Amino acid sequence: MSEETIKIRSATKEYRVHISDDMAELLRIMSIPDALFVVDCSVFHLYGDLFKSIPAEKIYALDAVEERKSIQTALDICEWAISRNARRSTTLVSFGGGITQDVTGFVSNILYRGIRWIYVPTTLLAACDSCIGGKTSLNYGKYKNLLGTFFPPDEIYICTRFFKTLSKRDLLSGMGEIIKFNLIQDESTLSELENSIQLLLDTEPVTVNHFLVSSLKFKQQFIEVDEFDRGERIKLNFAHTFGHAYEVASNYKIPHGMAVSMGMISANHISVKRGLMPPSLAERMEALLRMVIDVELAAYGFDFDAILSAIRKDKKQTNKGITAILLNENFDLLLVHDIRIEEIEAAVGYLSKLLT
Ligand SMILES: NC(=O)c1ccc[n+]([C@@H]2O[C@H](COP(=O)([O-])OP(=O)(O)OC[C@H]3O[C@@H](n4cnc5c(N)ncnc54)[C@H](O)[C@@H]3O)[C@@H](O)[C@H]2O)c1
Repeated sequence: MSEETIKIRSATKEYRVHISDDMAELLRIMSIPDALFVVDCSVFHLYGDLFKSIPAEKIYALDAVEERKSIQTALDICEWAISRNARRSTTLVSFGGGITQDVTGFVSNILYRGIRWIYVPTTLLAACDSCIGGKTSLNYGKYKNLLGTFFPPDEIYICTRFFKTLSKRDLLSGMGEIIKFNLIQDESTLSELENSIQLLLDTEPVTVNHFLVSSLKFKQQFIEVDEFDRGERIKLNFAHTFGHAYEVASNYKIPHGMAVSMGMISANHISVKRGLMPPSLAERMEALLRMVIDVELAAYGFDFDAILSAIRKDKKQTNKGITAILLNENFDLLLVHDIRIEEIEAAVGYLSKLLT
């Protein structure tokens, strides 16, 4: 059994992330006095035993679909919590992926201007990335993640056992983010990833644990110096200009982490063409990234007009020129504002050819 704790500093509180491959750790949370639980419906059905000690009226089962990541759901949960006598001393405990996290983070932030919140991420994507950093986001109308706040959980409990039941799509999406965090760090982490990629993709618990911790510690360096996303933290958006555009162009058929993996190949293509990165390094990264890209899903993302329109609407874009984060051969993340349309076209064309 492997266990690890990471402490994260934040403007509002210091919070801890506990990582373990043992579900017994979670039983403790179930007996917290004055707690209410919001649980992703799939998790509730798959892990029923875990919740059997909790009275049914203290559990709100949330259907984790984007349509429910709304202000209306947040208000429904507030109302439900009040009907269960929620007070300022209540702890909200949530189990689920990024959708559950976004909704319950928002609720915990607004109810009584902030109640205690414990979050158990059950997807790989939420565990390796979104669970730290404190962002809460809701969709509004046709706008994704338009509304939101910064409100980190008080405690985060990651158990790698949950990943065993993820669909292939959600597993690959999380793997995409884990690979991103580990291939952009330095040469030795990249080599380590190359040597362990099969064990990682097979969700071998010790290997998943190792790369997950490495992902969180890498992200930690950025969020602790720039919690509110005003400067340094933007670099974590490496490959997101493209990734986000592939996601939108596919009408969200391509899951986030997979779209980011596609985005990394495209961004590196520009780095190579600009002489920032040798082709050999880009090829090594490509070999890893291709393992988490489902070619059939990727095919939905190659409508160039839709890609360009999504890039132009991206909230990171300023009036200066097209902004993106590129990686160079020294593993520096560079914020550039002068990406040309022709470069985007070539990078998208390169990826589309590579995958077909
Ligand atoms: N707040 C942030 O910092 C942040 C960062 C990245 C992404 N996000 C948001 O996260 C959302 C995506 O989250 P996600 O990919 O983690 O997953 P998700 O919450 O969208 O869930 C994906 C699917 O997996 C199911 N599921 C969850 N855990 C499971 C398990 N252990 N076994 C089987 N099925 C399980 C869910 O029911 C759902 O069907 C998006 O809305 C995105 O905008 C937020």
